[in-house]
Amino acid sequence: MAKDFNDMEDSNRSANPTIHEVSDPARRVFIRGGLAATATGLFGALAGCAAFGGNGGNGHDEVSSAASLGRSIGFKSVQMAAVDRVVVPEGYSAQVLYRWGDPVGIAGQMPAFRADGGNTAAEQALQAGMHHDGMAFFPIEGSSQRGLLVMNHEYVDDGLLHTDGMKTWSAEKVRKSMNAHGVSVIEIQREGSAWKQVLPSKFARRVTALTPMVMTGPAAGHPMLRTAADPSGTRILGTYNNCSNGQTPWGTYLTCEENFADYFQGTDNPDAHQRRWGIRKGNGRKYRWHEHEERFDVATHPNESNRYGWVVEIDPQDPSSTPVKRSALGRAAHEGAATALTTDGRAVVYMGEDARFEYIYKFVSRDRVKPGGFAANRALLDQGTLYVARFDVDGTGEWLPLVQGQGPLTADKGFANQGDVLIKSRQASDALGATKMDRPEWTTVDPLSKWVYCTLTNNSSRGQQGQPFMDAANPRSNNTMGQIIRWKERGDLDGTRFDWNHLVLAGDPKQGRSEAQGSIKGDTFGSPDGLMVDARGVLWIQTDVSTSTLGKGDYTNLPNNQMLACDPTQGEIRRFLLGPAGCEVTGLTATPDLKSLFINIQHPGEPANERSDPDRPLAISKWPDGAGRPRSATVVITRNDGGVVGT
Ligand code: FEO
Ligand code: CA
Ligand code: CA
Ligand code: CA
Repeated sequence: MAKDFNDMEDSNRSANPTIHEVSDPARRVFIRGGLAATATGLFGALAGCAAFGGNGGNGHDEVSSAASLGRSIGFKSVQMAAVDRVVVPEGYSAQVLYRWGDPVGIAGQMPAFRADGGNTAAEQALQAGMHHDGMAFFPIEGSSQRGLLVMNHEYVDDGLLHTDGMKTWSAEKVRKSMNAHGVSVIEIQREGSAWKQVLPSKFARRVTALTPMVMTGPAAGHPMLRTAADPSGTRILGTYNNCSNGQTPWGTYLTCEENFADYFQGTDNPDAHQRRWGIRKGNGRKYRWHEHEERFDVATHPNESNRYGWVVEIDPQDPSSTPVKRSALGRAAHEGAATALTTDGRAVVYMGEDARFEYIYKFVSRDRVKPGGFAANRALLDQGTLYVARFDVDGTGEWLPLVQGQGPLTADKGFANQGDVLIKSRQASDALGATKMDRPEWTTVDPLSKWVYCTLTNNSSRGQQGQPFMDAANPRSNNTMGQIIRWKERGDLDGTRFDWNHLVLAGDPKQGRSEAQGSIKGDTFGSPDGLMVDARGVLWIQTDVSTSTLGKGDYTNLPNNQMLACDPTQGEIRRFLLGPAGCEVTGLTATPDLKSLFINIQHPGEPANERSDPDRPLAISKWPDGAGRPRSATVVITRNDGGVVGT
């Protein structure tokens, strides 16, 4: 979520060490060449293993053939411009596929979208939610022509969601807002050069802020998770602020709960735990759920907020399945959950926590992934070790285990059991001396080189009065532009030591904002967020400059958000796409053959205060319909000659 700089949570006031002398950042930026394409990698594993209804063999062949094309990027760079459409390079097409309000496709229950915001709460529960974000393609039978697209709907613009915006407020409006959050599962099919949604589909599903879920793992049933409505501490209603995502090799979707604190009306006297998690008086004013859903009022229901901030596993093949909150992965303002495998088949999940001065996490499963899809791996993410990262000044780093009883994580420090450690992951990471990062967003594992990349989107509080100082990994004060950091585990992906450097410190060298552009050739960008290395090793970068900042200050020459492609071996970053006015470009997934790339356009037309005027809904953007209201939407990008996207 793009958040206004002044509104961004910065509740980490712990005193972890920072260095006060930063070596020349320019020298920290280098692109290593010569990484050979030696493995099929994660996407091979996904295509072979996550594809359902068959053995996925076809997908594996397609991945191998795409990977053999190498990392080169062959398209002509798109020039930055203030536009209100999706711009792709010459020779490419961008097709709108699934907009806010389009029916998800449940047979007999497909209400049409009303462009005046007039759909009811019940209708919204059967339609695409708002503000599409992280997304994954699940091939059917390994196909690159047919599959499920599963995506997050992060948050809402109540100015567009209801006919009269927030001029009046009601239980019906709160319910509509809750139903516009969560996840969509849709079925899609390619016919010729175009993709279409399969309507109806037996897979179609909406998961919302009202969908029943269960909690599993070490924190399940913990006293801090028990509420009046759920004395068991295991049965939770809904997921929301689902930002980025993960896709497991056993065929499930991971959705990540990010800025959950914004939904809870805090009290006048928050305790230390609530303060550390940003549960403050006044939070509720943005979404106003607490006015009609009492559980969001912290004074009455102090434990409800502890039930959010988790990674939720969803089986997209079974629309009747109960989503599972996996407590073993820890609690955070979770951005994403990039999943890969160790060489012996254990799952590794990399997770960023997007808030100022928060942390980067890694989970390693105890057990190996078994053949047989989700049915054979239902408990895989319940047992394992969670770590938090410390980046040292010498270019090495260490994964610090978040294990009760180890180091400072003892009962006398407030960690009497593993549930305490997981529910209070931030406090545990503070105690371990983890590195406070510049808002970690997406992570991605290069399937060929095993470098792990993470976007650190920006942090204008870095180095400011009373705020943490610069350190080696976060080397710039008033960091408005962000950076992409990367690390390589020593040994396998479960290693506890790693080597790291910056791929790029983002920004415009003409404005003195980028030390990186001297050693990396390419187009200017800032506030990197979405990130994916595809099967042939191309790193795709999406930006989320907040709408309060786009086109101003350091972003004067960057009026729109964008997507770029990077060949890390050549050190080149090239602009591939521009989004329409006032949007964020996010959500990244591809077919196994890499001939179709799916992205999401989030909040086109969003004003700086993040709430549209219902009387002037088209004031900033008319995308994609040219009338009615702007709508977040999924876009599929193909090459007109049918080739691999990006080559
Ligand atoms: Fe929802 Fe951190 O972006
Ligand atoms: Ca966003
Ligand atoms: Ca962001
Ligand atoms: Ca994001």
